[in-house]
Amino acid sequence: MNIQWYPGHMTKTRRMIVDQVKHVDAVCEILDSRIPISSRNPDVDDMTAGKPRLVVLNRVDQADPEATKRWAAYFRAKGYAVLESDAKSGIGTAKFSAAVRELLAEKLQAYAEKGQVGRMVRVMILGIPNVGKSTFINKVAGRKTAKTEDRPGVTRSKQWVPIDKGLELLDTPGILWPKFEDQSVGLNLAFTGAVKDDILDIETLGCHLMTYLGENYPDALKAGYKLTAIPEREEEENDVAWGYRLLEAAGRRRGFLISGGEVDTERMAKILLDEFRGGKLGRFTLEMPQ
Ligand code: G4P
Repeated sequence: MNIQWYPGHMTKTRRMIVDQVKHVDAVCEILDSRIPISSRNPDVDDMTAGKPRLVVLNRVDQADPEATKRWAAYFRAKGYAVLESDAKSGIGTAKFSAAVRELLAEKLQAYAEKGQVGRMVRVMILGIPNVGKSTFINKVAGRKTAKTEDRPGVTRSKQWVPIDKGLELLDTPGILWPKFEDQSVGLNLAFTGAVKDDILDIETLGCHLMTYLGENYPDALKAGYKLTAIPEREEEENDVAWGYRLLEAAGRRRGFLISGGEVDTERMAKILLDEFRGGKLGRFTLEMPQ
């Protein structure tokens, strides 16, 4: 799958992160709770070696609540602090400052013992485009707008955001890394809209999404498209072929027909992606902890 990235932009950002990480006390990754692994920067461990980590599972309003619980446990077991958030509504964001201070409790205690009571705590924020990083930072900082451009060519220098008199954030450009080990990462980023549709074949994407939902959330699919039953997957039928039949079934129910009584599967694929992203079909998580 051909996912675009920007090598020059990426190199610059990587360099900036590696350079700046020594000046922060902790690193906070904002992840999409629907795709917590696919929305992670695969180089984060290398770049931020040894720093205490906070994971924000954002977009919890769009994810499967049971799966979010499992993901929170998964990241806690790795020793990270975890915060569940719906940045759009501002749910969870108020707990950020306390979560950072709890994560750094020992360090802050040591500072206090040395008499450095008012020492500033600095946290680097990482997140891929569209994960909700600006929305989250704005909510935490209590400010209205601060959207900076992530487009390549638009210079975005390092940016410190004050939170309170003892805490500040270092915002970083949200860009995608070019390491898609398996196709499912690319698909997950496309389903959630983290990469642009115009570089992908919508119909194929729709087939893959149908297959995932058919396998993992059949009831939501039936309810969303008024299907009496999910067409059964045939032995050795691949994802695209089964997904295509699901698209046809849903499209037929919606009345998306073209000449000869065929279903307009491309239109149905667009609708499926729109409805999935808009939360109209329900709350879904697209990958589960191993
Ligand atoms: P970025 O900085 O990571 O690129 O993302 P940004 O904050 O710009 O958020 C991208 C879109 O995602 C915005 O919607 C934002 O409102 C939405 N969003 C952020 N966090 C959450 C969340 O936790 N839940 C949900 N449901 N949405 C979230 P938009 O359509 O671009 O703008 P708007 O219509 O909300 O103004």
